[in-house]
Amino acid sequence: MYFPNEVEKVLFTEEQITARVKELGAELTKEYSGKNPLFLCVLRGASVFFADLIRNVECPLEIDFIKASSYVGTNSSGDVTVGGEMPDISGRDVVLVEDIVDTARTLSKLKTLLLDIKPRSLRVAALLDKPSRRAVEGFKADYTGYEIDDLFVVGYGLDCDAKFRNLPYIGVLKS
Ligand code: IMP
Repeated sequence: MYFPNEVEKVLFTEEQITARVKELGAELTKEYSGKNPLFLCVLRGASVFFADLIRNVECPLEIDFIKASSYVGTNSSGDVTVGGEMPDISGRDVVLVEDIVDTARTLSKLKTLLLDIKPRSLRVAALLDKPSRRAVEGFKADYTGYEIDDLFVVGYGLDCDAKFRNLPYIGVLKS
């Protein structure tokens, strides 16, 4: 298994993630049965989770992508940038798919921008959540894979300075 020097330990194995994503997919299938939701991937971190999640949701969904960034190295800059055109979500049932909720600044800014376009509904699915790091009080994703402690994690789409997204597991970075 590819295990770079910078990684201290595995937090969730590929098998554990596969099983959890399947469970989340089943919850979303139940929620959106009979509907035609739009799954919106927050690039780039959510890309791997998104690809697995949508293949576990059994309903006629559509996909789109949005780009947001706020991190430099292992620190949230607090300055959230949303790139490119906003997707046309008016009147749609939208599921915003993110890799991790940390301070929640990114998702709360994205939610505000998206709600302006008047979707029919807007829910958030995040693979990971670090509740102890919250800057936006009370923010919670509607669907969460795992709550974790205040650790910087990489792999399964998550990066540190653009590296480690290709690890098939989620690992803790050496501090
Ligand atoms: P927030 O705006 O502070 O909630 O940060 C959200 C974004 O920061 C996520 O979409 C990630 O891209 C990045 N991020 C936060 N924590 C981690 C981490 O532990 N590893 C990698 N990226 C992280």
